[in-house]
Amino acid sequence: MLGREVSGRLEPRLAEPALAAQDAVRLGQQVQTLLGRDASQVAEDERPRARFRRRERCQVLNSRIGDGSAPPAAGTLVVERVSKQFETPRGPLPILLDVSFSKAPGESLCVMGPSGSGKSTLLHILGTLEPPSSGRVTLDGLSPHALPETELAAFRNRAIGFVFQDHFLLPQCSVLENVLVPTLVSRAEGDHEARARELLERVGLADRLDHRPAELSGGERQRAALARALVLSPRLVLCDEPTGNLDASSAGNVADLLVDLHARAHAVLVVVTHSAALAERFPDRRRLAAGRLEPL
Ligand SMILES: Nc1ncnc2c1ncn2[C@@H]1O[C@H](COP(=O)(O)OP(=O)(O)O)[C@@H](O)[C@H]1O
Ligand SMILES: [Mg+2]
Repeated sequence: MLGREVSGRLEPRLAEPALAAQDAVRLGQQVQTLLGRDASQVAEDERPRARFRRRERCQVLNSRIGDGSAPPAAGTLVVERVSKQFETPRGPLPILLDVSFSKAPGESLCVMGPSGSGKSTLLHILGTLEPPSSGRVTLDGLSPHALPETELAAFRNRAIGFVFQDHFLLPQCSVLENVLVPTLVSRAEGDHEARARELLERVGLADRLDHRPAELSGGERQRAALARALVLSPRLVLCDEPTGNLDASSAGNVADLLVDLHARAHAVLVVVTHSAALAERFPDRRRLAAGRLEPL
């Protein structure tokens, strides 16, 4: 029940620590959009505690986290003449016009532009949460928008990591459990808990594993969200204003981690941001203006 049936607009207020039970269920449903499964069940009876195998721990860490040896295979992202218009009561509203670019594994793109210029819309299309009106997106030669819904959800879960301005951590789960949530729906083999612990150590949360999101600072929550996005070693990492809610110091810390983790991951990274401080960390910066993607 994902993607096309859901606008992809996630409500920021649901990420507040003091959630009503009803909101928690809705949050779970929205996480389902991203993860491809009923996350309300995850919250209640399938919390990903230490039921993960510990075998092959070292091997998995070496191959997935990246220690300078044997980077995991990753695919190229090709965006060909993507246009998007929303149908509104006043007629079609064009947002993106002929957006094209290509990124190989290990490369990144930073997209800037004023509010309302279509940055999130572009990210949602790349993340398969929205279909393009025309044009094509392929990752590793595969056109995910052409997949049937259930396969699309599995593809999204496995191949794409999302980081939003709001962390969207499940409030009833610990930090470690939150990072493990994507692994619940994945058939990928490996010691997921070891991977999650290692990522959490890398983002400086090794001593916060049992904390609930409400017991973390804003920067810590976003670092946990970063670890969650990377736990399945996605081929494509999409970040929508990842430092938008953080103070300058926390934002700098999250930006450092993002760049560092991307350098190890050999994935394609697309970041949209208003922040000049974040943008300057990426060599390829472009701007969305009047629907077109231009060099800055
Ligand atoms: N589902 C939708 N239906 C109609 N208009 C939309 C929808 N989603 C976004 N828009 C419009 O598209 C424009 C671009 O939105 P968005 O991609 O969120 O911009 P940005 O992320 O750059 O601030 C905005 O004017 C917004 O109102
Ligand atoms: Mg936006």
